[in-house]
Amino acid sequence: MNSPLSWVPIGLRRSFLSLVWLACASALAEEAKNRDFDVVREESKVPAYQLPPILVTAAGRPVTSPEEWFQVRRPEILGLFGNLVYGVVPRAEDPVRTTFEVLRSRSDFLEGKATRKDVVLRFSNRRGEADLRILVFTPTAAKGPVPVILLHSFSGTRDDGHDPSPDRPGHLRNGVPLGEILRRGFGLAVVPQSELVRHNEVEFQKGIHPLFYREGQSFPKANEWGVIAAVSWSASRAMDYLETDPDVDARRVAAMGHSKMGKAALWTAAQDTRFAMAILAQSGCGGAALWKRDFGENLEKMVTRFPYWLCRNASKFAGNEEDLPVDQHMLLACIAPRPLYVASGEDDLWADPRGEYLGAYHAGEVYRLLGKKALATEASPAVGAAVTGTDVGYHNRAGGHSVEAEDWERFLDFAQRHFRR
Ligand code: GCU
Repeated sequence: MNSPLSWVPIGLRRSFLSLVWLACASALAEEAKNRDFDVVREESKVPAYQLPPILVTAAGRPVTSPEEWFQVRRPEILGLFGNLVYGVVPRAEDPVRTTFEVLRSRSDFLEGKATRKDVVLRFSNRRGEADLRILVFTPTAAKGPVPVILLHSFSGTRDDGHDPSPDRPGHLRNGVPLGEILRRGFGLAVVPQSELVRHNEVEFQKGIHPLFYREGQSFPKANEWGVIAAVSWSASRAMDYLETDPDVDARRVAAMGHSKMGKAALWTAAQDTRFAMAILAQSGCGGAALWKRDFGENLEKMVTRFPYWLCRNASKFAGNEEDLPVDQHMLLACIAPRPLYVASGEDDLWADPRGEYLGAYHAGEVYRLLGKKALATEASPAVGAAVTGTDVGYHNRAGGHSVEAEDWERFLDFAQRHFRR
C-alpha cells in the first residue's frame, strides 16, 4: 500500500524526520539543563524560617559587649562553621615547612605600569610536598607599599590567563581590569584555586591534604577541610608571603572572589583577621546567601553536584537546613568590624540575590555592636543602586552571573574609601 506521504520526495521526508528528531533532542537537553532548576525561584515560595541568633551564646547568654563577641561568640560561630560546613584544617603531625621564592620579577608588565612578581610558596614535611604559585602585581610608579586586592582566581597562574589581553587594553586575558586597579593605587595578588587541591575530586591524595594526614589516613575526616577550605588556606599562606613583600601594605589587603571563589573569600576573611576587607561577588550558596531561605542553589544541590566543596558533615544537613545551627549572616558577621562588600546580579537567581542581601543585612547586628555602620533597611536597594558609604556595602547589578566593569568600579570605590589612610 502506498503511504499517504508517498507524493512527498524522499529527501524532504528525511529532512522532516531529522527536524522532528532534533526538536525532541533539544527539548530533552533543555529538560536536563533545567533539572537543577527544580529549586525555589520565586520569593513567594521561600519557606518560613528562623535564623539562629548571632548575639546569643551556645549557653543561651546574650552577647552585649565587643569583648563577649570576640572572646566567646565569634569563636563559637567559627567552630561551628569549621566543623559542620567548610571543614577544619587538622594539625599536621609533622609541622609543615614553608618557603617563599620570587621566581621572577619584571617591571615592564602592562607597558611598564605594573611590576609583576611570580612567587612560589613551597610546603613540605615528611608526608609530602606541594607548591602554590601566586602572582603579585604592584604599580611600578608607587612610592611605597600599596594596598592590595587578593583575588581568589579561577584561572591558573601557570597558564596565560594573567597575561595582558591582546584585545582589551589594560585587562588581563581573564578579564580582570588590572590597569584600573593599578590606576586607583592598588596592587593585585592572584591566588589560583587549583594549585593545592583538585576540584570536584573524589581523591585527596595529591596537593596539600596528604601533608596533614595521620598515619594510615587517605581521605579528610567528616569535619576536615574540603575544597573551599583548602582554597582559603592558600590565601592565608599567600598573606604570609605578602607580609614579607616590601611593595605591599599587608595591613590593607582585601580578599575578593566571584561565585565559588566568593565563597572561598568569605571563609578566608571570616577566619583570618589579617585580611582588612572582604569583597564577595555573587557568592551565593555557601557564600553570602542564607541557607534557610532554600532559594536557588541549596545545600542539597551543592553537596550532590560538588560533594567535596564543603566538608562531609555539611551533607547531613541537606534537606534539613532548619537543623543547621548556623546561617551565613553569622559568618559574614565574623568579618566585623572590617569592611564587607557583597554584590549580587539581578538575574543570578541560582545565587539568590535577595538571600545575599539578607545575609549581609543581618550581619549588621555585629557591625553595630562594634560601633560600625551596617545596611540600614531590610528591603534590598533598587537594582543598579549601590550602598558604599557604610561598613557593609552592597549592590545588585542588572544582569547575570559575572563580574563586570561596573562591579569593579564599585568594589574599588568601596576599597578606596575604606583604605584611605
Ligand atoms: C556553580 C555552583 C555555584 C558556584 C558556581 C561558580 O553554578 O552551583 O555554587 O558559585 O558554579 O563558581 O561559578
